[in-house]
Amino acid sequence: MVNETIQLGKGLTLKNPVMTASGTFGYGEEYADFIDLTKLGGILVKGTTLNHREGNPYPRMAETPSGMLNAVGLQNKGVDYFVETIYPRIKDIDTNIIVNVSGSTIEDYCAVAEKVNALENVPAIELNVSCPNVKQGGMAFGVTTTGIEQVVSAVRKVYDKHLIVKLSPNVTSIADLALAAEASGADSVSLINTLLGMAIDAEKRRPKLSTVTGGLSGACVKPIALRMVWQVAKAVKIPVIGLGGISSATDAIEFLLAGASAIEIGTANFIDPTITVKVAQGIVEYCERHGFKNVSDLTGALEINS
Ligand SMILES: Cc1cc2nc3c(=O)[nH]c(=O)nc-3n(C[C@H](O)[C@H](O)[C@H](O)COP(=O)(O)O)c2cc1C
Repeated sequence: MVNETIQLGKGLTLKNPVMTASGTFGYGEEYADFIDLTKLGGILVKGTTLNHREGNPYPRMAETPSGMLNAVGLQNKGVDYFVETIYPRIKDIDTNIIVNVSGSTIEDYCAVAEKVNALENVPAIELNVSCPNVKQGGMAFGVTTTGIEQVVSAVRKVYDKHLIVKLSPNVTSIADLALAAEASGADSVSLINTLLGMAIDAEKRRPKLSTVTGGLSGACVKPIALRMVWQVAKAVKIPVIGLGGISSATDAIEFLLAGASAIEIGTANFIDPTITVKVAQGIVEYCERHGFKNVSDLTGALEINS
């Protein structure tokens, strides 16, 4: 028997390392016809903001070779709707329900975090710091160490459960941003969010997305995500959650070997809605084949100089 439990610290224990990535799995209930949700380590729900957001105009998705671009723009009905309507429906699912928190100002992030702090069956939030800071010219909070320090330390003051900070890959040195998150009170970091990309319809001579640029995700981003997870895991002492293009158990294992303690699966859910449980099973089979008693023993087990 392989022990699949993952301790991420500060009140967050996963029954296995496989979670879903925010924005690709709705509130979990949308997938209940396909998989047993209790077989997941955790469900990261859709990005939640203080107020209702319509998201960006259509078209806001475009397929790319081995991936996709999206510019959904955090469409959601706001945190109060989540608390009053969604939470009662999903709170008793026997897995970790984690809210992905997004905002346009530090005050917004704090207001959402405070409201979610009061929800007994939400053990953690994931702070999406890839959002534009409207008070400072629209540059994302997460692309400077100062931006990260400001938002993470402010949220830390109002949120006392497990705080995951989700890092943007659109930076020069992601390890520096991870260190800033750790120093400001993050309990763990997750990475990567989408990479800024663009697609053009040459026949129409128009961009494929209404916003011109959008976030690239899926199998095509995996080598970049893996490299960043490896760099961050070497830099910080807090647990690292790896994601970006994971589409198979082998992909997930690569992230664990690179230093991740757990993983999230995003775009691959659109291709195979049962992929999460297949990946969890595949990780166990790998451990059996290679004689690992604990899935947690895979973390950082990469051998570089033999
Ligand atoms: C349609 C779509 C919506 C997303 N929405 C969010 C979101 O609300 N908050 C967030 O932090 N990340 C969001 N993401 C990013 C994913 O959670 C994930 O970080 C990224 O897609 C890389 O993982 P993947 O290649 O496995 O999809 C979204 C991604 C997609 C494709």
